[in-house]
Amino acid sequence: MTSGVRVGAVVPAAGRGERFGGAVPKSLVTLVGHPLVQYPLEVLERVDEVEAVVVVAPGDAVVAVRDLAREAGLRKVTVVPGGADRQASVACGLAALPPGPDIVLVHDGVRPFLSAALVREVVTAAARDGSATAAVAVEETIKRGEDGWVLGTIDRSQLYRVQTPQAFHRDLLEAAHREAAREGFRGTDDASLVERLGHQVRLVPGTPINLKVTVPEDLALADAILRRREAPPPGPRVGLGFDAHRFATGRRLVLGGVEIPWARGLAGHSDADVILHAIMDALLGAAGCGDIGQHFPPDDPAYAGASSLGLLSRVRDVLAARGWRAAHVDAAVMAEAPRLAPHVPAMRAAIAGALGVGEDRINVKATTLEGMGAIGREEGIAAQAVASLEDLPR
Ligand code: CTP
Ligand code: MG
Repeated sequence: MTSGVRVGAVVPAAGRGERFGGAVPKSLVTLVGHPLVQYPLEVLERVDEVEAVVVVAPGDAVVAVRDLAREAGLRKVTVVPGGADRQASVACGLAALPPGPDIVLVHDGVRPFLSAALVREVVTAAARDGSATAAVAVEETIKRGEDGWVLGTIDRSQLYRVQTPQAFHRDLLEAAHREAAREGFRGTDDASLVERLGHQVRLVPGTPINLKVTVPEDLALADAILRRREAPPPGPRVGLGFDAHRFATGRRLVLGGVEIPWARGLAGHSDADVILHAIMDALLGAAGCGDIGQHFPPDDPAYAGASSLGLLSRVRDVLAARGWRAAHVDAAVMAEAPRLAPHVPAMRAAIAGALGVGEDRINVKATTLEGMGAIGREEGIAAQAVASLEDLPR
């Protein structure tokens, strides 16, 4: 930012929020545990060049906003009551700014995703050019309409959605407000008042994330953005699973979701598919979600004879509920007999199908123990697996 620049901020937050509805003034509506207006105030507090912040609140909420600023440790903030429309409220804020700052930054109290970087860019442009506003190019086709019919299509190549922050040389903004008030002009932003004086306003690229909460859907969107932002940073999530079952006569042998013709099957409460059990534990482990015993208790009659492939797709749902899916699974099965290699392609297909991922993400391999130990004596089969997760595509 231009060195030596002194900034005073005005945050209009005095609207009732007619389009939003509800009894609470819109700027005090709760977003992830804090009033909406607190978010931009926290950012302005952190930008060193901003010396003072005047929040313009509804008359009956001045005390509440003062309390919230004190509790949040916002030392730059003073609070004054607003006027009948946004323009009047900004004028109230301007009048209450202390002497000193030569640049005034105006930012809507209902735009929670202000960034320090955008504040600096807009202030730098205003210091250089007199006035600046954050704006994003219009990306959708814009039409005029009347009574439910299209009247025409507007060339969008020169259209911008204008946001705040906006910043101005202080004397220019004060003159613009005086002039607009004198002529009875009402604008929905401050730049339009400056434009009327014949001054050019610099466009600074904003971002669609810097949304204005206008209708309830905007709050839902802001909530989703904030929760995602606060989620732990994505890191590699890897899990490990192991399972072993004894052979038993009179049971089907089901491995990797595939029934394999064999004299004996594996003993167990469900279909005793050791490969899938190891894979499920690996996936749940990667997600930090315990193990299959917790999700599908063995003493629950609901899971007697259950298809492990069905349980695997339930594990997929557990992951999906947390925004993940399997990125990769690698399983090693230890069996003296039968020979499993011919069944591996069918296992991969079954596992990939249950997890909703490509077969190239699934690997299964089999080994004997060369006659060593219990598995070598063909008392049972064991399997281990590792799995990693990735974000579900949005
Ligand atoms: N604002 C203000 N004083 C007013 C009206 C609006 O300070 N008399 C502020 C709002 O609090 C908001 C910003 O101007 O931070 C942008 O206005 P808008 O989104 O239109 O908010 P409201 O006017 O409250 O909403 P509505 O137009 O739906 O009533
Ligand atoms: Mg309004």
